[in-house]
Amino acid sequence: QSFRRLEYRPPNFTFGKVALDIALDPARTIVKSSLEVLPGPEFKPGEPLVLQGQELEFVSLRINGAAHRHFELNPESITIHSLPNEGREAFMVEIISICVPEKNTSLMGLYVSNGNFFTQCEAEGFRKITYFLDRPDVMARYTVTLRARETECPVLLSNGNLIHKEKLPNGWHSAVWEDPFPKPSYLFALVAGKLECIEETITTGSGAKKLLQIWVEPHDLNKTRHAMDSLIASIHWDEKRYGLELDLERFMIVAVGDFNMGAMENKGLNIFNTKYVLAQPETATDADFANIESVVGHEYFHNWTGNRVTCQDWFQLSLKEGLTVFRDQEFSADQMGSESGRAVKRIEDVRTLRQLQFPEDAGPMAHPIRPDEYQEINNFYTVTVYEKGAEVVRMYQTLLGVDGFRKGMDLYFKRHDGQAVTCEDFLAAMADANGRDLTQFKNWYSQAGTPRVKVEEHYNEASKQYVLTLTQSSAKVNQQPFHIPLKMRLLTSGDDQKEQLLELTQEKQSWTFENISEKPVLSINRGFSAPIILDFVQDEADLLTLFSSDDDAFNRWEAGQKLAMQFILDNRLPGAQLIAAYRTLLLDPDLDPAFKELAMTLPAEAYLYEQCASVDPQNIYSARRAFRHAIATELRMEWAALYQQMQTPGDFSPDGVSAGKRSLKNLALSMLLDADVAIWSAMAVNQYQNANNMTDRYAALSGLVVNGSKQAGICLRDFYSRFTDDALVIDKWFALQASRPPIAGVEPTLVDVMRLREHEAFKLNNPNRVRSVIHAFCMGNPASFHQADGSGYAFWADAVLTLDPINPQVAARLARGLDRWRLFAEPYQSKMHAALEKVAASKTLSADVREVISKALAS
Ligand code: ARG
Ligand code: ZN
Repeated sequence: QSFRRLEYRPPNFTFGKVALDIALDPARTIVKSSLEVLPGPEFKPGEPLVLQGQELEFVSLRINGAAHRHFELNPESITIHSLPNEGREAFMVEIISICVPEKNTSLMGLYVSNGNFFTQCEAEGFRKITYFLDRPDVMARYTVTLRARETECPVLLSNGNLIHKEKLPNGWHSAVWEDPFPKPSYLFALVAGKLECIEETITTGSGAKKLLQIWVEPHDLNKTRHAMDSLIASIHWDEKRYGLELDLERFMIVAVGDFNMGAMENKGLNIFNTKYVLAQPETATDADFANIESVVGHEYFHNWTGNRVTCQDWFQLSLKEGLTVFRDQEFSADQMGSESGRAVKRIEDVRTLRQLQFPEDAGPMAHPIRPDEYQEINNFYTVTVYEKGAEVVRMYQTLLGVDGFRKGMDLYFKRHDGQAVTCEDFLAAMADANGRDLTQFKNWYSQAGTPRVKVEEHYNEASKQYVLTLTQSSAKVNQQPFHIPLKMRLLTSGDDQKEQLLELTQEKQSWTFENISEKPVLSINRGFSAPIILDFVQDEADLLTLFSSDDDAFNRWEAGQKLAMQFILDNRLPGAQLIAAYRTLLLDPDLDPAFKELAMTLPAEAYLYEQCASVDPQNIYSARRAFRHAIATELRMEWAALYQQMQTPGDFSPDGVSAGKRSLKNLALSMLLDADVAIWSAMAVNQYQNANNMTDRYAALSGLVVNGSKQAGICLRDFYSRFTDDALVIDKWFALQASRPPIAGVEPTLVDVMRLREHEAFKLNNPNRVRSVIHAFCMGNPASFHQADGSGYAFWADAVLTLDPINPQVAARLARGLDRWRLFAEPYQSKMHAALEKVAASKTLSADVREVISKALAS
């Protein structure tokens, strides 16, 4: 079954007030819902009321207080006929139903994790809790009564404000929560169980006092400080940058160890994967600290972009996700505290986009940031909707300026606060607030694929003219030209050319620059101003110039990536010139260490694949490895010196500058181990043992494992016993082993992975654990996964089929692992095809996995 965007119809009924009374019991939770039903925008007298419901045991239905027997129950809905006065005026529907949280392994709806109750309703999980108009354009005011045994669930939380608490007979108690803001069902949440919190009171711009809480299992209380600091910083940032204030008296974050995604922005009650809440220096890496800051920011920012203004339907998902990712990226960039820090953040974001989103846009699941069709909405929480969506929002800011963008945001809230709207509404606010015609910009919402822009340049020595010709071509046939903002600058020794913004709107356009004293070096798409692929054959000398001196840090990094990529794809080792350029960069005392680390990190295999017409994964792996080994060896004096210089003595701090030093130091360590593992293992073991933080301890362990050091085994065992009780750290232990590349003379990684799957600490129903072993191997370890005998693919097929009945979302994510099968050379391609066919042959696939596999096979 397929859903289409153009088939959207407003609802025939809507809800005013919703009262839920939920008696929590893991085996049998009773939900009584009272719905005030009103005629909706598409009301037609006499039509039945159809409510969605899934895996519910129906108990009773009453209308306006009387038992009602004119209804049909279907597996996924209830259809209610003979409504009072044919539904013309408000009436009350009361439904009682039962669900079984302890059996819910899909982690959608109401479920149990480690004895506590949690919910996940986005996108369509609310229908697993009670019968409802489970669609985002039905917004209602909720009052929620939670009941539970007090000893089992001392804490009872839901959205909004706590208005009442009460002891009940037989050891039960109850709490009543009221959310003053109308909301769609996907933002509903409840949490109940044995949890504790840290709290803080802050005063926001209007002078109002707000209570902030972070709820976790008691033993994790000492890992919540960073999340709280991040929340406070987010609240201040949104007021300062966008004038948006927290609208509730209380804002809660709850951490849960079993969670499908990163986190969820439920109104006033954000629920997070523990991975994005818990941190302390001994157990979390710099990357973890940064991710927590960004995810806490992301969910908080949704309070305005997502909750106050929400989506009309799920095709509009990027309206809230693209915008909110853009906001969290800007928040994190500002938190870096310097221009070079901002650039580092930008490079990291672009790297993610290219490694994950470009392949998606070129593969069988390609879709515009606003899809036109889906079979299962859960498959569309994609890097395209999120990350490319954020790039599209960023382009408005590039075209309109930071102030123009802010005007657009202000108008968007002025027009749409409290509404469920579309991507056109956002575009219209941006256009109208700035008096701009953005009609052509709409193509970014409707056309899939990464656009390509061909660059041709011509310099006329005699006339001192430089002519730049840009030609855009789209990845798919019959597409309209995009509106592409390209920041550019001509670099000359005179240094008199300023940065400019070119707007490429035609298929082909030329620009003439006058009085250019010498043949310039072109720096284009600076800061990655548009999410495109540049077809630009720039010679090595120009790339070296850009790599050593472009004033745009992104393009400086980019030139280095291009150089390395060309060498690797041609299977060449770096020559003397390139080594010299690397050396100069490493020795430059004025350069940010974090930037150096990024500049010396080679393009990922996934990105290299996309440059090839036919991928031989083992060839690419060995070419990349050989190139890296050459940098490691030729620059070993510099690496050894940096290893000493980049030490960060004293107390650990996760700030950008310290993290940058650690990242460069640990790159140096990994280069030294690559150059000569026998010589440098002792130093790595020393770092492993004496580190006062997880970044350094994990980096040392990883270096030992990846380079096949003889000390790897003993350190791995030590790591496991040190952190046995810390699930998130044990995830790292699993992931490290599953991500190990092939090592000559050592058994294949797959053998380790099979053993890890049987490990006593491996759990098939915990998404984090599954991802740390299975996804890490199948989607994060290309050289070990792509074996010519097809063993990796057979393992993949088996894992997809095993996971699907437990958790379709986790299985469907893994199913994406063979999306790009058509890109591979033989024998890989045929073996991938066989694995896809094997999964497709199952008669019991979920809609989630079915969609992914059938689209892959149809490509
Ligand atoms: N809205 C959440 C976020 O991006 C993601 C929730 C998606 N959950 C799901 N089951 N599809 O912050
Ligand atoms: Zn989001």
